[in-house]
Amino acid sequence: MLTNNNEYLNFVNGKWQPSRSGSTIEVFNPANRDEVVGRVQASNLEDLEEAVAIAKETLQIWKNISSVDRGNFLHKTADILEERADEIAEIATKEMGKIFRDTKGEVLRGVAILRYYAQEGMRQMGEVLPSSHKSNLLITKRVPVGVVGIISPWNFPIAIPIWKMAPALIYGNTIVFKPASETGITAAKIIQAFHDAGFPAGVVNLVNGRGSVIGQGLSDHPDVQAISFTGSNSVGNQVAASALKHGAKFQLEMGGKNPVIIMDDADLEHAAELTVQGAMKQTGQRCTATSRAYIHESIYDEFKKIVLQKASLLKVGNGFDQNVDFGPLASKQQMNTVVGYIEKGLEEGATLLCGGESLKGDLEKGYFVPPTIFENVTQDMTIAKEEIFGPVLALMKINSIEEAIEMANDTKYGLSASIFTNDITRAFTFINDIETGLVQINGETGGAEPQAPFGGMKDSSSQSREQGQAAKEFYTTMKTITITPVPSNG
Ligand code: SIN
Repeated sequence: MLTNNNEYLNFVNGKWQPSRSGSTIEVFNPANRDEVVGRVQASNLEDLEEAVAIAKETLQIWKNISSVDRGNFLHKTADILEERADEIAEIATKEMGKIFRDTKGEVLRGVAILRYYAQEGMRQMGEVLPSSHKSNLLITKRVPVGVVGIISPWNFPIAIPIWKMAPALIYGNTIVFKPASETGITAAKIIQAFHDAGFPAGVVNLVNGRGSVIGQGLSDHPDVQAISFTGSNSVGNQVAASALKHGAKFQLEMGGKNPVIIMDDADLEHAAELTVQGAMKQTGQRCTATSRAYIHESIYDEFKKIVLQKASLLKVGNGFDQNVDFGPLASKQQMNTVVGYIEKGLEEGATLLCGGESLKGDLEKGYFVPPTIFENVTQDMTIAKEEIFGPVLALMKINSIEEAIEMANDTKYGLSASIFTNDITRAFTFINDIETGLVQINGETGGAEPQAPFGGMKDSSSQSREQGQAAKEFYTTMKTITITPVPSNG
């Protein structure tokens, strides 16, 4: 049983169960702060202890199932998720506000990730190396790391946990999953799909709870051999420090302050469309969202006009309304942070071109902020430096590709960046000199494909990459095996 009176339970050792704490966390609809969507467990360390112990015990069973068979469990999960796409998307929209079209797209993205990693069970898991001893066989074999802790954020409540869980499972690890409490119900629905696909009890475990208790406990736990985290830099640094203390592997995906450069030869309609989409889609709550636009001064006024016109057409509202382009911010805290940044922008002297205020009327009950665009922004302003995680874009002028790249790189972050140009030489200069893990030519800063590595440079990540073949590095460790034939006596 997934739920008891709209109270969503933890999933440990193949069973749904309440926390020993007897407490729950309420999940609110950010489009209507009076609506309680449900409650998730406010678990304690004893709950976590049980989940880690069972994941450790089950490791022996799971890693000894062939990877082809493990892949079949993932295939089955993908089929179930696909069948339940509407149901899961609906709950995700209610929990964190993203429009239904996008949450459904996210479920289908999760399905594609599961299918990609299911196939991985049939691919190479080691190499044959030349040996200096001619009769020896020198090989490597990839083996699971062990119990993996997964800490996922609320902004992609379906795709991000799945892009961590699918590779962890196919390579033979067992899991303890702690989702963001804001999206703990969506997490329970995902776990139900894994359960219904027939995964052996104890392989996949879900423990809902506060980050300061369960996230911290998971990072500290000596039996957790690897921890994959997506979220803020401050929490990521704590996860890393805890993991290091007991020698666990860690993988961190954190913030971004993603720039776009629009050169004078760019297709301005296309560049403006993708700049606005990049900044405003999903209410700007993507670590890959566009937040700074460096525009060649010769086309600045024209580009600004098109951007403002496109932004004015965006409709903000409840994610279930089909005409809406983006929904509310995910929580009150998130709205206060974004509004705080907008106020800071004004205080520090930036010029507000559109948006800025929280919305009134029908939308007053939710955490709605309209598309907000500033100009006259300088590099030292807070809105040019810090990650906002809201629908806020800063326009700045540049007069050369060199200046644009220097300004784009002038940040502690290094996740994603894009240039709009038709000049191949400028595109190559950008590819060579931009300091980000994701590089786009004439494309939006957001988005990731399951088969391609995803991650950032500088403070955006722990330099590790997720998805694609890169995930194998993190979720496996390696044995080097030498087979020496015994000389025959006869
Ligand atoms: C993210 O930005 O948080 C995830 C990747 C994306 O789809 O842009």
